[in-house]
Amino acid sequence: MIDFKKLAKEYETPLYVYDFDSMATQYEELKSAFRGRKSIIAYAVKANSNLSVIRHFAKLGSGADCVSIGEVRRAFLAGIPAYKIIFSGVGKSDDEIREAIERDILYINVESEAELGRVELIAKELDKVVRISIRVNPNIDPKTHPYISTGLHDNKFGVDLSTAKRMYIGANNSKNLDPVGIHFHIGSQLTELEPIYEAAVIVADLVRSLEAIDIKLKFFDVGGGLGVKYDDETTIRPYDYVQTILSTLTALDMTILCEPGRFLTANAGYFATKVLYEKQNGEKRFVIVDGAMNDLLRPSLYNAYHKIEALTESKAKKRAVDIVGPVCESGDFFAKDYPLPPLEHNDLLIVRSAGAYGFGMGSNYNTRRKSAEVAVENGKARVIRKRESFEDLIALEQEFLED
Ligand code: LLP
Repeated sequence: MIDFKKLAKEYETPLYVYDFDSMATQYEELKSAFRGRKSIIAYAVKANSNLSVIRHFAKLGSGADCVSIGEVRRAFLAGIPAYKIIFSGVGKSDDEIREAIERDILYINVESEAELGRVELIAKELDKVVRISIRVNPNIDPKTHPYISTGLHDNKFGVDLSTAKRMYIGANNSKNLDPVGIHFHIGSQLTELEPIYEAAVIVADLVRSLEAIDIKLKFFDVGGGLGVKYDDETTIRPYDYVQTILSTLTALDMTILCEPGRFLTANAGYFATKVLYEKQNGEKRFVIVDGAMNDLLRPSLYNAYHKIEALTESKAKKRAVDIVGPVCESGDFFAKDYPLPPLEHNDLLIVRSAGAYGFGMGSNYNTRRKSAEVAVENGKARVIRKRESFEDLIALEQEFLED
């Protein structure tokens, strides 16, 4: 049990707290579902890019799935070996591509024909052969929130099957490109297996048709997307997930690569925030807390549900309340009509499932400092990012201030 009251006292609020033991349990559960099969779990760094979080996964043997050169640098700094780092994303700049090639990562995941051209040109300039994978868009509806659905032709990600095939043939004929992988990622917070199965079947068929023309790929990259319980969702069991993927790979000898983010970190993270005030606007009850949408954007952006627990002695009846922050936007809320007992100044609220896409999507809106982040491991807490100071926030502006 994490003693949030103690942590809040010691490190102040708002505060992110990560249970490193729970992250390890999630990693091990997924890894053991792959037992006996060649596999790489490449942690999707975007879910929580704190260096110590990445290091934690590095120590467990994880690779890293990165979507900017900044994330690639973080992965290196955290000790992920180059041969387990992949670099994806629809809009890589020339500089990013160049650095990824120079760093000799496992592969660059290419998302368009135009990008393949740039990668080839830059590899040629550097006189290198670069390993690539192509992200295929299988046109499958993942049945998740539209903002985090990525595997339909309506979405900007990947290329259609015939384009992919043409790209593989081109890459195979190039002196500077080595096509080693194939990738798909149909969306995030997936709670149904069927769309994953359908996508994997389509992509595995493409792999077979490439083998028929002597293009042999080594990595079958199934992306991320494994959903977690925010409320009472039924989620996919890692064992079933792996078996489903394997069932599509008959007669193919490939290393399966997967890129989980949320599955590894979401439910290991907590956002602790203190009650500032309660107020009543007519019939409507509000509790105003010291955390805000700049700290945890998911409720404002996706209307996402997060469980919230009030650490209060009060035994009084729970009543519906909107839990809101100090930011000047009506969209600044953590929950609406949430049942909570009467609250007092300084009571602590714990927002659950905040370990993925929490801190990382934060901002300094309203000149608010980003929270500190604390890791709890084997019963011991340690800071893994200190709270920003006002000076940090203005550091890049101050020198330009004119008289
Ligand atoms: N691989 C690729 C290519 C991705 O685009 C993503 C997530 C992942 C892996 C990791 O997905 P995960 O296992 O975490 O579902 N901000 C949104 C989620 C955006 C996901 C973007 N891509 C949220 O807060 O729900």
